[in-house]
Amino acid sequence: MLAAGDGKRLKSDLPKVLHSVGGRALLAHVLTALEPSGFATTIVVASPRKAEVAAAMTDAGFAEIDYVVQDTPRGTADATRVALDALPQNITTVVICPGDTPLISPGSIERLLADHRSTGAVATLLTARVSDPTGYGRVLRDEGGLVRAIVEERDASDQERRVDEINTSAYVFNRERLDAMLPKVGQANAQVEYYLTDVIGLMVAEGEIVVAVEGSADEARGVNSRADLAEAGEALRRQTAERWMSEGVTIVDPGTTYIDASVTIERDAVIRPFTFLEGNTTIGARAEIGPHARIVDSKVADDASITYSVVVGSEIGSKASVGPFASLRAGTVLKRNARAGTFVETKKTTIGEDSKANHLAYLGDAVIGDRVNVGAGTITCNWDGTEKHETVIEDDAYIGSDTMLVAPTKIGRRAATGAGAVVKGNVPDDALAVGAPARIIPGKGDKMRRKPDEQTKDAGG
Ligand code: UD1
Ligand code: CA
Repeated sequence: MLAAGDGKRLKSDLPKVLHSVGGRALLAHVLTALEPSGFATTIVVASPRKAEVAAAMTDAGFAEIDYVVQDTPRGTADATRVALDALPQNITTVVICPGDTPLISPGSIERLLADHRSTGAVATLLTARVSDPTGYGRVLRDEGGLVRAIVEERDASDQERRVDEINTSAYVFNRERLDAMLPKVGQANAQVEYYLTDVIGLMVAEGEIVVAVEGSADEARGVNSRADLAEAGEALRRQTAERWMSEGVTIVDPGTTYIDASVTIERDAVIRPFTFLEGNTTIGARAEIGPHARIVDSKVADDASITYSVVVGSEIGSKASVGPFASLRAGTVLKRNARAGTFVETKKTTIGEDSKANHLAYLGDAVIGDRVNVGAGTITCNWDGTEKHETVIEDDAYIGSDTMLVAPTKIGRRAATGAGAVVKGNVPDDALAVGAPARIIPGKGDKMRRKPDEQTKDAGG
């Protein structure tokens, strides 16, 4: 994996291969594509910021990878040299992949390997025909259609630039022939770099067999700039949406639906516009998501529905419903048929089966049983300024509107609270807690000092 380039054109403080599309770093996409081929060893050529790259890949779940450092980005041939120096001698076939082509497909890598073996070629390269080849190396073929060389955009003649077959930078090589050829690569080119692409022309000149396999235009997309990043992201989104639609998921408007590569969705789920499904998220069968939902690292069960809401690190049970305008934060669990409705915020809270918080509530550090009704304006006062405390509401309890539950507190089974109650301490089973009723003081109203005959004038509003 060639991943040591400095990514100048991105103008970023982050190493290029750690920029993300579809919720995953560019390099992680390529490593994912390589996985099914089961390589004996994977070596990433990184810049001196290797530690950052390695840490990010470990976080992304790639464990068995060796990293080597190319101290200066002298070109792709030099990066290849650094990798070969670290490659065990018994390995005779080597795949080279760039770290900046996130859409490269596992199928193409396997086809590349299969063709390499069946043709006995010393080099097999993945190419693609694209509508706009600008910026890519062009594949030059002879009259018989055999690959002759690759020429980089900046070194190409006007006629060569018209070639629409480009080099993807994914290759399979006979290790021994690659070893022998690399020292012959010079840097007499527009970028004064050692180009791996030169190896192809050198091999052909020595009469070796070089074969090209054609992949799709999308998988050839290399990311060199922020604009490329956006385009690759769009192409990836389109592919992801197409994949889920082919699996039986309705996506009303793929153009405004953002599904990370890591998400899974069951059939007959309906994803409405302006929905973001991110990270380690799963959506169950027949669930209705959106419009306007952002769901991150959450499990949504069958038949649940979420609209105009943000759900992070939560579990939404079957037939549960969320929103509009709910914010479910990490550690929220909605059991079967539970509801977190309009302007409800939750954190580290379980809402039991058939329980409802229909409107305007803050429920934090709470365990709510089954068939509980949480009235509008209920707040779990979970923070005393120093520590967080838990609220427990047992089955069949009824929390009246605007109840302040000053934690730690426990509301027993079938217990109730009156509107505006401020509850401190525990409420036993079947008890009613009422509190702090407003005192009525006669004659102290009339705050706007109106005479009786003016009262009808600007009433209302
Ligand atoms: C390269 C190919 C070009 C191809 C294109 C496909 C060469 C000379 N050109 O061009 O034919 O069409 O990819 O996307 O190979 N890297 C290193 N060390 C270096 C230089 C680069 O590790 O010294 C890595 C980069 O991090 C990147 C990859 O190699 O992942 C390709 O390098 P990049 O500079 O992006 O090459 P392109 O100009 O895109
Ligand atoms: Ca590139």
